[in-house]
Amino acid sequence: MSVTNERIFIIGGTGNVGERTVKAIAAKKVPITVLSRDPSKAQSTFSSIDASLLTVVKGGYDDLDTLKQVFPGHTRLFLLINHALGRMVQVKGAIARLAFASGIKQIVDLSSSGFGIPLYDNYLLTQHTLAEQAILDAAADHDDDRYVVLLRPTRFMTNLVTYYRPGLNDFEDTLDPDEKQSWISPNDIAGVAAYVLTDAMANHATSAYELTSQVITPTERAAILSRVLGRSYTYRQISPADYFSTLSQSLANYLPIRCIYDIATMVEHTPHVSRGISIFLGREPETLEAFLTANKHLLP
Ligand SMILES: NC(=O)c1ccc[n+]([C@@H]2O[C@H](COP(=O)([O-])OP(=O)(O)OC[C@H]3O[C@@H](n4cnc5c(N)ncnc54)[C@H](OP(=O)(O)O)[C@@H]3O)[C@@H](O)[C@H]2O)c1
Repeated sequence: MSVTNERIFIIGGTGNVGERTVKAIAAKKVPITVLSRDPSKAQSTFSSIDASLLTVVKGGYDDLDTLKQVFPGHTRLFLLINHALGRMVQVKGAIARLAFASGIKQIVDLSSSGFGIPLYDNYLLTQHTLAEQAILDAAADHDDDRYVVLLRPTRFMTNLVTYYRPGLNDFEDTLDPDEKQSWISPNDIAGVAAYVLTDAMANHATSAYELTSQVITPTERAAILSRVLGRSYTYRQISPADYFSTLSQSLANYLPIRCIYDIATMVEHTPHVSRGISIFLGREPETLEAFLTANKHLLP
């Protein structure tokens, strides 16, 4: 570790990936500042962290005046913007410009895999790609070294305990039963983020890491659910139109319709496990079975 004299700023640190990232960095005894709209919730989320390592700042993505005051003294920024905001490109660009102007040297951006899909064919993936470019443009405004590390996770395993929870004995999707699909554990994303944020910046320079923990088919997913929950699960392949209709009922208040269309119609190209995860984490990537076993209480 090379960051004993550094302080890391975390945006999006109280959510799914962020909380795990903050805890992984704190375990390395590196001081952290977390932005949150609800500091008391953040303090209780991180009650296990040594108070001398953690500062919580009250604010949201648009509080640029607050960020301008608090960024100086930090060397790195973890940047995660919830896509539900709908202004990811503008918000990430504005925060990146401010961060680099304040002396931050490295931004680790929680982006997304492009899944091999052409730009503009998928709305949300395109927003991530354009946001990556906005951050890279902000870095290019400076003559001295500014690093941008783009983390590009595929499908979060967390989705299976939040947005796409299985039913009691079956689950639906549009894939062929033996079609491969990529999954990433939030613990693996957080582990890689913490590794990069506490490693020498030059080791990662400006680069991107595609992140997939496991590639499985719906048939294999059914077998995993059966083992984890101790009852028989089956996969039901439905049409994109039926899936769009089902997802619209559950996600329309959270995601733009265009995102729901993309989820219902998405075809992933060349899914493969990211071999680098084990180099950074010193262990194999977390399997879906291990993740679901640890989160069994969240399943039906
Ligand atoms: N789900 C997937 O399969 C998938 C795949 C690839 C990429 N992604 C990307 O991953 C990201 C989501 O990650 P996640 O699941 O960890 O997110 P999350 O759990 O929804 O966390 C959101 C975080 O953002 C903060 N936040 C929300 N609104 C805010 C605002 N207005 N101002 C400041 N902070 C705000 C929350 O902090 P407070 O509430 O404390 O303020 C919280 O820490 C998105 O960019 C998504 O596109 C997701």
